[in-house]
Amino acid sequence: MRIENILGIKYPLFQGAMAWISHSSLVSSVSNAGGLGILGGGSLTKEACREEIRKIKALTDKPFALNIMLMSPHSDDLAELAIEEDIKIIVTGAGNPSKYMKKWKEHGIIVIPVVASVALAKRMERLGADAIIAEGTEAGGHIGELTTMVLVPQVVDAVSIPVIAAGGIADKRGVKAAFALGAQGVQLGTRFLVAKECTIPQQYKDEIISAKDTDSTVTGRITGHPVRVLKNRMTRQIKEIENASGMSVEEKIAKIEELTMGSFRKAVVDGDTTYSSLMSGQIAGLVKKEETAEEIIKSLFE
Ligand SMILES: Cc1cc2nc3c(=O)[nH]c(=O)nc-3n(C[C@H](O)[C@H](O)[C@H](O)COP(=O)(O)O)c2cc1C
Repeated sequence: MRIENILGIKYPLFQGAMAWISHSSLVSSVSNAGGLGILGGGSLTKEACREEIRKIKALTDKPFALNIMLMSPHSDDLAELAIEEDIKIIVTGAGNPSKYMKKWKEHGIIVIPVVASVALAKRMERLGADAIIAEGTEAGGHIGELTTMVLVPQVVDAVSIPVIAAGGIADKRGVKAAFALGAQGVQLGTRFLVAKECTIPQQYKDEIISAKDTDSTVTGRITGHPVRVLKNRMTRQIKEIENASGMSVEEKIAKIEELTMGSFRKAVVDGDTTYSSLMSGQIAGLVKKEETAEEIIKSLFE
């Protein structure tokens, strides 16, 4: 069955979950426009997340999903909350959701994990995942190693459930390319950062809109948690620490952790563009203007 039919959506388009960002305003707008809005649960406590779910339900009667970031300290709580609030679709990120799968499936929840390798895609299918999001390293946020071009067709060949391509897609050409690789749908994050209904500070949106092809970089490889962000003064300092001589790896990690503490919050709450994690994909160079979620979706499919 096609992914649109499994989920009851008009377009095979997922608005990628973004912790701190994809909350009720963006999610309900995407779902109302015929895509799948995904609530980023990453930064939310159980009660804050419950509130967002209820707001979304008040703003749309269309399907939407809850994203559970498996490295969040609240993931056990959100796994329970999904059942309590009768969530129909869960998208998992940053890890392996095996320990929750049985319970979710018993409650008839559609589960769609984000993966960055064929091995994890196959494991997820065996555990009962209904579809897979294969996310390439071009994407904004936490990333794996393989590119979308390389990962998607290999995941498509390895599983028999629908595959959604994510990472580096921002226009109709990217959507067509994803379909040519065998994907049934696409997930976009970076382009939705500049949706009118996305509530991040204008300074963050302006950085995305003015970004060039080479303006993103990856921080955190040394800590084992690579994250794609736009280059700024903070990322340059991180590189200096990474390349410094006479410091142990442990010392470098400690210094980087000190420097980056709360840096994503600074971007999404304070609008700080210099000492902040401006998470963004490589495709920001193609994102040129603020538009409504509906305009973005129409530009991809019509
Ligand atoms: C600012 C930002 C925050 C993100 N946060 C999350 C998250 O909380 N959970 C998740 O599963 N993916 C997260 N992602 C990944 C997106 O959901 C999506 O897969 C990715 O952005 C697609 O690639 P693109 O940025 O090239 O469009 C984030 C991406 C961005 C840009």
